Parts: sequence; C-alpha cells; structure tokens
Amino acid sequence: MADRETPGTFPPNLDLTVPSVARMYDYVLQGKDNFEVDRKAIDAMLVELPEIFQFCHDNRRFLARAVEYVAGRGIDQFLDLGAGLPTVDNTHQVAQRARPGARVVYVDNDPIVLAHGRAILAENPDTTVITADLRDTDAVLDHPDTTRLLDLDRPVCVMLVSLLHCIPDADDPFGIVRRLMDRLPSGSAVIFSHIVSDDPEAGEWLTQRVLAAGTEWGRVRSPEEVAATAEGLDLVSPSTDDGGTPILVDCATWRVPGTTPLARPADPEQRMWEHAGVAVKP
Ligand SMILES: C[S@@+](CC[C@H](N)C(=O)[O-])C[C@H]1O[C@@H](n2cnc3c(N)ncnc32)[C@H](O)[C@@H]1O
Repeated sequence: MADRETPGTFPPNLDLTVPSVARMYDYVLQGKDNFEVDRKAIDAMLVELPEIFQFCHDNRRFLARAVEYVAGRGIDQFLDLGAGLPTVDNTHQVAQRARPGARVVYVDNDPIVLAHGRAILAENPDTTVITADLRDTDAVLDHPDTTRLLDLDRPVCVMLVSLLHCIPDADDPFGIVRRLMDRLPSGSAVIFSHIVSDDPEAGEWLTQRVLAAGTEWGRVRSPEEVAATAEGLDLVSPSTDDGGTPILVDCATWRVPGTTPLARPADPEQRMWEHAGVAVKP
C-alpha cells in the first residue's frame, strides 16, 4: 500500500484527505485497500461503538447466506448495488458456486471499487463492475454492461446490502427500491440490510460521526422505517424451517441453522445492528 498512499499515484484523482465508505468498510473487514484517513475515522468510532466491528462482519456473512439462498430458489442474475471493495466470498463466488454460469453486475459510485474489481474479474466473463450512482436507477439498469450481462425480462436479484443508510432522506431511499423493482419481472428478489438502532440517540451519534468525517451519507434509521424496503413485496421467512412470521431481523440471525431469528440482538447493550431481509416480487 505504500505507493498507493502517495497522493495522485493510485488511482488518479483520489482525494486522500476524505475517508470513503467503501474503504472504511474494507478496513473494518480487515482488508488492505484502505488509507490512513479511513483507518483514523473508523478507529475513532470503534472506541465508542465497538459493535460496528461485529455487525460489519455479521453483515458480510448474511450477504453470502442470502445470495446462496436466492440462487437456490433458481435466480441466476444478480445486480449488486453498493458492492464495495472485493473481499472474501464475493457475490459472484457464492452465486457461481451455487449456480454455475450465474451472472453478476457489481455497481458502486466509488471509482476505487472499479479499479480493484476490474482486475479481479478480468477472467470471469459472467461478471462485471460498473461505476454508477444507484439513485439514477435508469442509468444503472440501462447501462450497456448491465444489459449485456443481465436479461431484465427474467428474474433478477437486486442487492442493497448495507447500502440504504448511505442515502439521505432527501433522495428517497425506499423510492429507489420501488423504481428498481418496478422495472423487473415477477419472481425478482431483493436482498437488503440497513444499519438501524432502537436508541435514537445512539443512531444520531453514529450518523453525525460519519457525516463529520466528510463523507456523503444518509443516516441510521429505526427498524420500523427500514420495513419500507419490502413494501409491495413478499418477505421471505428468516427461519431455515420456513416457519414463523416473515419479519426483518438482525442480519446475524437471518436463516442461520439452529438459530432463532431475532428482531434485535439479544444483548440489550447492543444499540445498533444491520436489519436484514430478503423479499420477492409477487
Ligand atoms: C458499507 S459498504 C457495503 C458493501 C457491500 N454491499 C456489503 O454489504 O458488504 C457501502 C457501499 O455502497 C457504496 N455507495 C454508497 N452510496 C452509493 C450510491 N449512491 N451509489 C452506489 N454506491 C454507493 C459505497 O461506496 C460502499 O462501497
């Protein structure tokens, strides 16, 4: 990383004075594609909110379980929005293990994701990465690389994993989901998780910390607010035996064999978690 920390060397025009969500998340996941500015921002937050570390790792495991589950239902096309930097068990690896030939389009608005993703995916003809902003849903769906790899007349799995809290209210995060799903056929699915808190003060604390770091972000929302993601869709049961009420749960407990799905972490001290679910378009 040493040469990458020299401004202007990798990739060009990278502003090393402002942390990026993609690189901060990479640091929490113990990746190597982050800079001093990202590490400092996260280290300061971890002191006061150590559960960040846990819920980021839980979220990544949720992503893999959910992709495997959706592939098992027969979906072989994935649009991974806000995909982040490559890590272990990326969407294409999980999806193609479960369903060889599955196609994956990774989308992120941080160009560093493109820089890393292109190199990793160079030899995988069924996968690509594009730089786009998910708020422009038509630009994402009509991007030539999206339409080259995905047949939008067949079910697609849209992934909004640990993403919608990056979108401010003014940009109507849940309206984005509706616009995307409106253009996709019945049987399409959405995999999502969102940082939530049932302690408004704690939620506001994290929101202000991330915004103060200088990065563009939305906010921590309440579990009730995040339920809007699945509006008009059929939520899948979070239980591996398909029983119980289909509800959104702490991502750490979504379809984990032998684990009861929980609407919030059992530890009352844990004030924040990734609220998660999978829903299907009827
Ligand atoms: C917390 S990371 C989540 C990465 C991955 N989805 C996961 O759950 O492991 C959020 C990602 O969303 C990207 N992102 C934020 N706002 C976005 C936007 N408006 N359009 C596209 N990507 C965005 C960030 O650059 C970052 O890589």
